Amino acid sequence: MRKKIVAGNWKMNHDLSETESFLGDFKKQLFPEDVSIMIAPSFTHLFHAFQSLKEHPVQVVAQNMHEEDSGAYTGEVSGKMLKSVGVSTVILGHSERRTIFGESHEVLKKKVDAALKNEMNVIFCVGESLEDRKNTNQEEVVKKQLEASIFHLDSSLMEHIIIAYEPIWAIGTGETATPEQAQEMHRFIRNTIREKYSDAIADSIQILYGGSVKPDNAKTIFSQEDVDGGLIGGASLKVESFMQIVNAASHKKE
Ligand code: PGA
Repeated sequence: MRKKIVAGNWKMNHDLSETESFLGDFKKQLFPEDVSIMIAPSFTHLFHAFQSLKEHPVQVVAQNMHEEDSGAYTGEVSGKMLKSVGVSTVILGHSERRTIFGESHEVLKKKVDAALKNEMNVIFCVGESLEDRKNTNQEEVVKKQLEASIFHLDSSLMEHIIIAYEPIWAIGTGETATPEQAQEMHRFIRNTIREKYSDAIADSIQILYGGSVKPDNAKTIFSQEDVDGGLIGGASLKVESFMQIVNAASHKKE
């Protein structure tokens, strides 16, 4: 059985004192054992969060990284640097990186390779725009994203990949994909991976849903057969709402 993952993507939110107050409260929570919990603070707080959560079953994840290990890339942070501060998972291909920062399929492919080379796991985001969905191109778009930046990988590396399906029209908009829409796309992604790789890889890869997951809709979304948890933006910024979503992913709380 695939373990559920709930990952909080803080984006560019929480300064140091807000991060400290989150962590102080977060550490007091009872974490369900059947859910892998991750938080992705800004680069500036990664080391602090890692130190603070060392004794707790929470992974600290980065929101991005550069594809080179070092060099003249002003303002960038490498996978090697992330590894050195205790980060072993990175989110790549988030739609905000693709659309606002112009990250192409090719750049993302290099970033994926660099993360794996640094022995990190990757949460690779895919998802269509509203226009794509209106034109019923969503499957084509998502397939292309996988093919262009992930499908060059040898099957032995696929155990380090987690997919996050995040329809752009549902991110930060309060609008969620219906549980049926999420299930349909997750099944499509799993089957696309099955065709490219194998049953074993398709059946074990974790596919998260992201896009306005909130405490009141998390349970229904997470109960879909091919949904293995969520990548949570807005609702991960407060301990209370994040923990409600974490608990919604746990079977023990049913
Ligand atoms: P949201 O963001 O939960 O605020 O919609 C999700 C994401 O972008 O990862």
